[in-house]
Amino acid sequence: MKHLLKLLDLSKEEILEILNLADQLKYENKNGIEHKLLAGKTLGMIFQKSSTRTRVSFETGMYQLGGQALFLSNRDLQIGRGEPVQDTARVLSRYLDGIMIRTFEQTEVEDLAKYGSIPIINGLTDFCHPCQVLADLMTIREHKGRLDGLKLTYIGDGNNMANSLIVGGLKVGMTVAVACPKDYQPDPQVLEFAKAYGDKFILTDDILAAAKGADVIYTDVWTSMGEEAETEKRKIAFKGFQVNDEVMAAANPGAMVQHCLPAHREEEITTKVFEEHADEIFDEAENRLHAQKAVMVKVMGNNK
Ligand code: CP
Ligand code: NVA
Repeated sequence: MKHLLKLLDLSKEEILEILNLADQLKYENKNGIEHKLLAGKTLGMIFQKSSTRTRVSFETGMYQLGGQALFLSNRDLQIGRGEPVQDTARVLSRYLDGIMIRTFEQTEVEDLAKYGSIPIINGLTDFCHPCQVLADLMTIREHKGRLDGLKLTYIGDGNNMANSLIVGGLKVGMTVAVACPKDYQPDPQVLEFAKAYGDKFILTDDILAAAKGADVIYTDVWTSMGEEAETEKRKIAFKGFQVNDEVMAAANPGAMVQHCLPAHREEEITTKVFEEHADEIFDEAENRLHAQKAVMVKVMGNNK
């Protein structure tokens, strides 16, 4: 694996290899076993949007692997003043061993990989959030003991999270149901990908139909980073697309809840459901660290 640009690029086997390594690194970390697999290496982290989890988990993960991470905000980089990504990629490739980037356009991430000569990791774009979904799959497998044959239901905006969950969930053998308003559907490229999975993919605007028989209920904010101007309009469009007791009653008994965070209580999820499932949601946040360490070892390690 050279890069992690989007889950569409990965095979089922590659996804499962990352999850297996993530489990191993988590176990070792909990048992005080050091694994300096990236000793002496430097990861550059370019952030064009805010972050709590992604920034802290990558930086800590790099440190635990024996390397270091540089936080590069667009407020400080020349990229923020218009230096082309093609030039930035070629310059940073001379200093660093890998780049994690969070930005708007997916093409920027793909261009970094195209023009640079070091591994690129997508830390979220408007199109997808592959690191998050690897952590999500790791968490679901930890709690449920398997992925294959489970039903994952996503309720909310057909955004970057929906896109990555559809691709990741289907690739590992889950049934994926997505309930979103008609005007806020997932990306056409992802819907085209999902076609091949027949009735293992369900797209509807009926949240209870989507939640029926679900093993995992997932949601995300109604307004993503960069869409703040649409907040009020979206509050109207997404009214009713909420994970609440009624949704949980339609799901399978013992269904778990996942949220990539940050959460907006009483919008996409009630405080009650959030707090009842807080352990699962914060396990998910923790697993960003372990899953991303596995990704970094896979793309930046010496024994790829
Ligand atoms: N879930 C997630 O990516 O969180 P941050 O925006 O805090 O990095
Ligand atoms: N859809 C959200 C995810 C945040 C982790 C956003 O892009 O803001």
